[in-house]
This record gives sequence, C-alpha cells and structure tokens, in this order.
Amino acid sequence: MPSIRLHNSSLLHSRILIADDDPLVRDAVVKILELFGYQVVAVEDGRACLNHVTDDIDTIILDINMPGLNGFDTIKALNERNFDIPVLFLTGAGSMEYAVKAINLGAYDFISKPIEDLDLFDVKIRRAIEKRMFLRREKTYKENLESEVRKKTKELAEKNLLLEKYSHHLEVSSVNTIITLNTALEEKDQYTAGHTKRVTEYSKIIGLAMGLPREDIDVLTRACQLHDIGKLVIDVSCIQKPGPLSDEEWILVKKHPEIGENIIKPLNFLEREGEIVRHHHERLDGRGYPDGLAGDEINLLTKIVTVADSFDAMTSKRSYKINMTKEEAIYELRAHKNTQFDAIVVEAFADILPKRQLHSL
Ligand SMILES: [Fe+2]
Repeated sequence: MPSIRLHNSSLLHSRILIADDDPLVRDAVVKILELFGYQVVAVEDGRACLNHVTDDIDTIILDINMPGLNGFDTIKALNERNFDIPVLFLTGAGSMEYAVKAINLGAYDFISKPIEDLDLFDVKIRRAIEKRMFLRREKTYKENLESEVRKKTKELAEKNLLLEKYSHHLEVSSVNTIITLNTALEEKDQYTAGHTKRVTEYSKIIGLAMGLPREDIDVLTRACQLHDIGKLVIDVSCIQKPGPLSDEEWILVKKHPEIGENIIKPLNFLEREGEIVRHHHERLDGRGYPDGLAGDEINLLTKIVTVADSFDAMTSKRSYKINMTKEEAIYELRAHKNTQFDAIVVEAFADILPKRQLHSL
C-alpha cells in the first residue's frame, strides 16, 4: 500500500470536481482525494459536471464514456466557457486513440483506472492544482496590470484635460488683456469707440454667410479684435485730430499693422491672427500696405476683415467727414470690387447685411 502524504497548506483546501457514471470508481477516487485532504464535488456525468463547475474549482477529473454528455463533449463545453481549469481524463484499458483526442481537446493529463499507483495519482493531481494556481495568479496579475494601466491612463487623461484647460485659459486671458487695452484706447476717442466691436461683428456675419468652418470663424474673430492693436504704440493725437492727416502722420499711422503683428508675435498660438493683423490694409490691386500684396496673396480671412474694416470706417462718424449710410457704403464697396476688395466677399456682405438685425452695433 503506497503511503498517503499530507499536502502543504496551500493545496489543502483545493476543490476537485469529478464526473464518472460508475459509482464504484467515483466513490473510490473521492475517498482517495479526501484522504489527500482535498474538497471533492462528485457528479455522475458531463452535464452535471457543467452544472457544478464554478471558478473556485481547481481541477476536474472526467471519465470518458458517460451517458448523455461524454468526457470529450464535456471538455469542449468547458473550453467554450473559458474556465482555465486543468482537466484530467480517467482512462480505462489505455487507449492511444482516446489519449490523442483528449490531448487535442486540451486535456492536461491522464489517470489510469483502476488507480493503483497512489503516488503517481497524487503527483498528477498536485501538478494539475499547481497549474491552476499558476493560471489564477497569472490572471490576477494581468487583471491588476490592466486595471493599473486603465487607472494611469485615466489619471493622465484627466491631467491632460486640466493642462489643456489651463493652457486655454491662459490663451484667452492673454488675448483678453490685449483686447481690453485696445478697447480702452478706442474709448478715449468718440470717433473710434466701438470700431473693433463692429468690425468683429461684420466679419463674423460675412464668415458665417460664406460657410467658413468654426475654427476659421474663431481666428477671424480674434484677428478682428486685435486688428488695430498697433495703434496702441502710435501717438494717437494725430489719429484723433480733426481734418485729414498730413503725409508724415500717414507714414506713422501706416505702421500700425506691422506694429500690431509684432505685439502679438510672442503669443505663438496667434500665428494666423498675426498674419491678418499685418495685412488688413492690403488691397487686391497691390496698392495697399505694408507689403503691397495682390490678389490671392491676401488670404480670405484678411479679405473679409478688409471689407468689414472699410465698411465701418465709411459708416462711422469721423472727426473730419460725414459718415455714409449703409447703402452708400455698400455701393462704395461694390465700386471698388477687384481693385481694393474681393468681389465674392463684398457680395456676401451686401447680401447678408440687410437680413441681419445687428442689435449690438
Ligand atoms: Fe487698421
């Protein structure tokens, strides 16, 4: 009679599920396993095995020939349910054909019945249980790792979001500071008060009427809010004086687009706006300033600002001339299509203006 060894405590509470339709074999195997110190669940066929299998089972012992669901069909069903529980087949008079089939189906090992070599039986059961423990640890490790990665990814996404918010907030604050300065400058002069606000509104309605994407509308809006920012550093007394400007004064005033671009240049995110600020006094015929750009060298957003800016200049009271009505200003814009202004932009504005209630203006 082979000796029966007690197992180390980690294996002691292992649970083994055995399915065999022969009560004599089943009871004998149960007794041996219980002597080894295992907890055993014994059932009479494959169907009952599937009904009793749970994640806390450590090893399954399957007879091959059973009524209803045989051992092969049972292991197939177990595989489909992804239990990862090692399955040992109980084989009668050693059949090679059965063994190969069982291996192909993922069986972990074989036990010959009747069980005569208890030491070998013990080793096979222990190996199967250890395999199960390894698989459990691996699964837990993988789950923990995945959970940790998910947690870190979430933390990172939250930090990124926060950073984006801070960054956006900083950008908005920077632009607002400049706009506030510009507004303060405008408000000092009754003739220029509200100019930036109106140019912004006109440009936006043209951009929206032309179906520009949201991003372009945003660039257009900021560019309008900043377009005359260069006037901040010019001696405004000449701008505000009654009557036309002298040649010297014109030279000074004409510097404001370049100065404006330089003011906002350190704010890298305003690159597109900077280009518009620089070129908002260019003309289609190349006779504008500061670079004398012509035709499509001037981008569409700049062409829009040019029309809006000129329209407001014509319709606002200036210290040295009477303002035009909106209709007269549109007539004037049309008269300078293709020389000073882009025809498509002018027509888009002429079309949309009468349809809009510009409450804020
Ligand atoms: Fe300007």
